Amino acid sequence: MKKYNFSKCLRFVPNRLTQAIDFHGHLSFLYWLLEVAKPSRIVELGVFRGDSLATFSQATRELNLDSKIYGIDCWQGDSTTGNYGEEVYSVVKDYFDSNCPNTTLIRAYFDEALQYFEDQSIDILHIDGLHTYEACKHDFETWLPKLSKKSIVLMHDTEVVSDNFGVHKFWQEVSQNYPAFTFNHSNGLGVVLVGPEQPAILQQLCSDHEELDNFKAVFEAVGGKFFQLAKAKHWQKELENYVKKTSLTMISRDALHNNSKIPRLLRSIKNYVSRH
Ligand SMILES: C[S@@+](CC[C@H](N)C(=O)[O-])C[C@H]1O[C@@H](n2cnc3c(N)ncnc32)[C@H](O)[C@@H]1O
Repeated sequence: MKKYNFSKCLRFVPNRLTQAIDFHGHLSFLYWLLEVAKPSRIVELGVFRGDSLATFSQATRELNLDSKIYGIDCWQGDSTTGNYGEEVYSVVKDYFDSNCPNTTLIRAYFDEALQYFEDQSIDILHIDGLHTYEACKHDFETWLPKLSKKSIVLMHDTEVVSDNFGVHKFWQEVSQNYPAFTFNHSNGLGVVLVGPEQPAILQQLCSDHEELDNFKAVFEAVGGKFFQLAKAKHWQKELENYVKKTSLTMISRDALHNNSKIPRLLRSIKNYVSRH
C-alpha cells in the first residue's frame, strides 16, 4: 500500500455537507481520484443539493487543478428522489455562485445539455441521475461520445437492489466491457476506466484483487465520518432554530450557566463540528 498517497485525501473536510447523505462515504475517494487523474473537465449528471459536486469543486481548488466543473440537473427530482420544491435549486445556486468559481450549474435535462459539450472533451463523468436500469444505461450511452481518451465514469448506487433501482444490473454489463472496480459502502460506487489512457495506479487496481481489497478498506473505514459530521451539523441547526423560535433565547443564556441540557448539547455539537 506504500505507493498510494492518502495524506491529502484523508485530511480533506468537505465544506458542503447537507442532509443528502447517500454519497458522503465516497467524498474522500473523490479527492484521491482527482489528485491522481488530474481531470480538465468534470461533468456531474444529477446534482440535487450539491454535496458531491461541491467536493469536486473544493478538491480541485485545494489541489490547484485547473479543472472546469459542470453540474447538470433539472432540479425537479425524479421517481427515486421524489419531486422537490424550487427552494432546493435556489439554495444550491446561491452556494455555488458564492463559493465555487470553477463550477457551472446547468439547469436542463441531461439529453438537452449534451449540445453544450464537444465530443471527447470530458475527463470525469459522474452519473447520479435517475437510478433505473434504462435511465442509467441511457445516460451512459448518450454521454459516451463526449468522453475523452483519459475518461473515467463514476456511477453511484451500484449496490442498491430494490424496486426501481437498476444501476446494479447495468453495472454487471458495463464492468464486463471496461476495466472497472466498485466500492460496496455508501450504496456502492462504480469506477469505470473508459478512455484508453489511464494512470497505471488505477489500471492496477482493476486487475489486482488483493490490492483492490486493501485499497477499498481504507475508504470504507473513513466513509462514515462525513455522515456523522452531517448529522451533527443538522442537529446544531435544528437546536439553534429551536432556541430561536421559542422564547428560550434568554432562558438558554441563563441556562448555559445552569448546566441545562439543551445548551450543553448545543455546545458539545458545536465543538464536534468545529473540530472536524
Ligand atoms: C440522486 S440525486 C443526485 C445526488 C447528488 N449527486 C449527491 O450526491 O448529492 C438525482 C438528481 O438527478 C436529477 N435528474 C434525474 N434524471 C434527470 C434528467 N434526465 N435530467 C436532469 N436531471 C435529472 C434529479 O432532479 C435529482 O436531483
